[in-house]
Amino acid sequence: MRLLVTGAAGFIGSNYVRNRVERNPDDHVVALDLLTYAGNRANLADLEDRITFVQADIGDTDEVEMVLRDHKIDAVVNFAAESHNSLAILDPALFFRTNVLGTQGLCEAARRAGVGRFHHVSTCEVYGDLPLDDDAAIFTEESPYAPRTPYNASKAGGDHVVRAYHETFGLPITITNCANNFGPYQFPEKVLPLFTTLALDDQPLPMYESSDNRREWIHALDHADAIDLILDRGVVGETYHVGTGVELSVKQICDLVLSTLDKPSSLVVTVPDRPGHDRRYLLDWSKIKRELGWEPKIPVEDGIRDTIRWYADNRAWWEPLRDRAPVVESGWTADGRPA
Ligand SMILES: NC(=O)c1ccc[n+]([C@@H]2O[C@H](COP(=O)([O-])OP(=O)(O)OC[C@H]3O[C@@H](n4cnc5c(N)ncnc54)[C@H](O)[C@@H]3O)[C@@H](O)[C@H]2O)c1
Repeated sequence: MRLLVTGAAGFIGSNYVRNRVERNPDDHVVALDLLTYAGNRANLADLEDRITFVQADIGDTDEVEMVLRDHKIDAVVNFAAESHNSLAILDPALFFRTNVLGTQGLCEAARRAGVGRFHHVSTCEVYGDLPLDDDAAIFTEESPYAPRTPYNASKAGGDHVVRAYHETFGLPITITNCANNFGPYQFPEKVLPLFTTLALDDQPLPMYESSDNRREWIHALDHADAIDLILDRGVVGETYHVGTGVELSVKQICDLVLSTLDKPSSLVVTVPDRPGHDRRYLLDWSKIKRELGWEPKIPVEDGIRDTIRWYADNRAWWEPLRDRAPVVESGWTADGRPA
């Protein structure tokens, strides 16, 4: 297959590309990324001679159309996005530009070039949040969209764009809404690598007051396998949830970091929450299991501990990135300013 992977120099995109070329050595893979602060060529360093890298903006329809035509691309997998909830509080316009208008620009390029499949990567966060005291509450593919933050709303907007391109122009799309990913190469602004890299340096770990808030966790490579299965056998026009059912609170993530690295709990400092901090997400992923036979393979707690050890072993990868992080997490005021 001839694939264009956007956002390929980010966390999940680079894990996806590595997984793809290892399993499909005959594929022609074009990795496209704008290289924002979150994009990093080093994430693809071991793959450079097996892929073609293009630095471009997904919103630049003419340029992307040219890439699609030049490389005779069969399928697009779109990971490109602004992805950090905290940055979205400080610069919401950037998120709507990239995640809504950028997605539209990419869909338009795919439509013009006549690609055979457009797979869009989305999140559980488009549905809003669930209460903490109702274990039966869960999001299905039919749940209404009810995003509560600029990041979530921009991802929801992107999903609507992709569906509109399918319904109106016949673009052959599929969508995945996935749970919280962990794994190597995640920018050290997100909670697991943030806590891990701070703990490795014996720095305070800023834990939000609502540390019972919980997320469903999945390894990025299990997410990658789900997308490949959907590219092979998924039904055009359909959305598939990708999850594990394994939930861990912010406090439990913090405890895993401290116990894996043998660091004291005195490193933890409680800070005021980010406004709009969602309480809980949980996806019903029975559709992809039932229809395509997909199941996650990596046990969540083992995978998280391996990821923490990866950061301990790869200081040279993350240390230079810390200065590029646009938000310093030290708590928030109620009106959305860093405390
Ligand atoms: N991280 C998660 O837990 C999670 C969960 C579900 C869904 N997702 C979705 O998966 C995708 C990838 O997330 P991630 O965590 O790897 O994010 P990331 O921030 O690590 O990577 C995003 C990449 O997109 C690139 N990019 C940004 N704007 C671009 C543009 N205009 N044109 C081209 N490239 C651009 C960045 O340079 C970066 O390399 C996103 O769409 C995100 O919403 C993430």
